Amino acid sequence: MSDLKCCVVSCDRPLNAAYWEAQYEAKTTGWDLGQVSPPIQMYADTVADINSRILIPGCGNSYEAEYLLKQGFSNITVIDIAPTPVSFLKEKCKNNPNIQILLGDFFEHEGKYDLIIEQTFFCALPPNMRQKYVWKMHQLLAEEGILSGLLFNRMFESGPPFGGSKEEYEKLFTAAFEFIKMDLSENSIAPRASSELCIELKKNSQVVVNLYALEGITYSESIETLTEKLLAIDGVLNVSISGNFADALLVSKNEITIETLQQVIAFDEKYTIKKIKK
Ligand SMILES: C[S@@+](CC[C@H](N)C(=O)[O-])C[C@H]1O[C@@H](n2cnc3c(N)ncnc32)[C@H](O)[C@@H]1O
Repeated sequence: MSDLKCCVVSCDRPLNAAYWEAQYEAKTTGWDLGQVSPPIQMYADTVADINSRILIPGCGNSYEAEYLLKQGFSNITVIDIAPTPVSFLKEKCKNNPNIQILLGDFFEHEGKYDLIIEQTFFCALPPNMRQKYVWKMHQLLAEEGILSGLLFNRMFESGPPFGGSKEEYEKLFTAAFEFIKMDLSENSIAPRASSELCIELKKNSQVVVNLYALEGITYSESIETLTEKLLAIDGVLNVSISGNFADALLVSKNEITIETLQQVIAFDEKYTIKKIKK
């Protein structure tokens, strides 16, 4: 799996712009396929509306965007936190009005998209950010919007990339998204064969998806109790808490007041909960 190794500098966090830029500068970009990922190409070929608003986060050198442009797609946005691939793409796509190339943090980005393409961005983020990823994807997608692409269905000794499993993703995306597809990809590149899930998730616009900052939780046992208590609130459909106990993703039929949430988690007086706003 040499194509998955990415670290030339130490893999110590934070995985910020400087970290990713260092990888590009040192050319330790083992994730870079040098071509559009075949399952994503196959999916793109099924998208009928060439005017669909498409976002590719953590785009890197984005052969996916290049492919979409060749197919005539006219409303593509790509964003990356590292300057090198962004400059490269800006030069390559100079004067092309069909693509917007942004240098920036996906989590700060605002917009509305019909389709967001996932290609080794989720696995590049610290796993504690997965709840935030789901929240942000839900915000950025228009009604009926689709999150499509690939997620690893295997673990790695260290990361990035950080792996995961179908079971984990099902728990994470439940209720916020409708699962149209989450199956083992049949045409991944050889080094990733049998280790990628092809996903097609439709935004559930009927629900409220909120992210909360938790404080005071230090034991993993508390997470189970907390999750159970939050799930028992009338209207709550799914709860996912990050591994560092800092973020809680809540999917509900309607907005739950912060007073209700605080009351529910006050079984331990140290625990506090605050809503994260944009
Ligand atoms: C593993 S690389 C994948 C690049 C590209 N998708 C590909 O498959 O070649 C992860 C990319 O995500 C970018 N990235 C990491 N965190 C980001 C963030 N918060 N916002 C935008 N881009 C980010 C990195 O700079 C890097 O280009």
